[in-house]
Amino acid sequence: MVQHNGFFGEFGGRYVAEVLRHALEELEETFRDAGSDPVFQREFDEICKTYIGRPTPLVFAENATRELGGGRIYIKLEGLANTGAHKINNAVGQALLAKRIGKKRIIAETGAGQHGLATAAVCAKLGLQCRVYMGEVDIRRQRPNVFAMELFGAEVVPVTSGAKTLKDAVNEALRDWAGSYGTTHYLLGSALGPSPYPDMVREFQSVIGKETKKQAEGLDLDVYAMIACVGGGSNAVGFFAPFLDKSSPKLVGVEAGGLGLETGMHASRMNGKGRTGIVHGYRSRFLLDEDGQVLPTHSVSAGLDYPGIGPQLAFLGESGRVEFTSATDKEALDAVRFFARNEGLIFALESAHAGASVIKLAGECPRDRAIIVNMSGRGDKDIFISAKQLSPEPWLEFLKSEVESYED
Ligand SMILES: Cc1ncc(COP(=O)(O)O)c(C=O)c1O
Repeated sequence: MVQHNGFFGEFGGRYVAEVLRHALEELEETFRDAGSDPVFQREFDEICKTYIGRPTPLVFAENATRELGGGRIYIKLEGLANTGAHKINNAVGQALLAKRIGKKRIIAETGAGQHGLATAAVCAKLGLQCRVYMGEVDIRRQRPNVFAMELFGAEVVPVTSGAKTLKDAVNEALRDWAGSYGTTHYLLGSALGPSPYPDMVREFQSVIGKETKKQAEGLDLDVYAMIACVGGGSNAVGFFAPFLDKSSPKLVGVEAGGLGLETGMHASRMNGKGRTGIVHGYRSRFLLDEDGQVLPTHSVSAGLDYPGIGPQLAFLGESGRVEFTSATDKEALDAVRFFARNEGLIFALESAHAGASVIKLAGECPRDRAIIVNMSGRGDKDIFISAKQLSPEPWLEFLKSEVESYED
């Protein structure tokens, strides 16, 4: 199914300027060597356990199951990982590879700030210099993460080009790397970009799927479906990884439906809205206009607000192994409230898209079978968005009193 030249069917590849070919070849070789080195694997496993806090729990959502009246719902709590999301699994893996190559400077792009946060934390831990590119719009909507990145000692560089969101941050990071790859590793945060990133990020994130498989077997679950949100696709492809060459369970990827697919204000590439193109060094499904220009995207969740999908997921979507659906901003916010009230869990807005899909799909799952949803992150970072939407007046009062406290 997966070809070994960096392609997944017609998707993938390494469409970069000549200057970056050497850096990508060096990275691929290091990744391949590390993969067969038990010392590297032991180091990765040890940091996963002692620093990230793995394994993360798989919990039975008893109240949600009762409320929805269908299959048994289980939640993989990636949000309990250090820094609050799955992004740190890949950050640790790539930072260890950078050290192996001898590169001491790390650059990263970030959207929701979770990948930047994870990278900044790991760089602090491993003694690496860190610069994070972040769109100005995302800086505004994810300020708590900017504060934490800077607290970890990272330099956060605002990106003011284009829509000032994730795709523009990727452009800036690639531009930096083209001039600095001799000393710098580009720690890309999702399962996309030029080869070997899609394979590498999937491998580091497959820790989620491997743990989930073991935990589900331990509980003797008959798994009907696994559901994950999809921005670039790293939590989904890592969660699905051990099941990709099997015909079950059903694997469901949930994209950002934004204000509705018919409005054009969304980030859904796999529901008939995307076109095949080459952006950011890889061939995949993107939101493009007729001239091949990248279209603006919209999502309440910064982490899903990206015009492209990782090439392996594009391939798995076309082959039918992964089914794609979408959840709107409103459905995601409703899911935040639903799981908070019923399970005492605050889903990140990104993960809440998967939660919204569980709410819709639970009824079609037989009661003795299980649906597992990946809570890719927790929602602490979203408080300035979700409180404004879910509890507007008291929140505005709080903000006013905070501003007043500055003026005193
Ligand atoms: C909590 C969370 N979930 C999901 C995503 C989407 O990324 P990916 O599709 O690579 O998992 C992000 C991105 O920032 C995120 O912060």
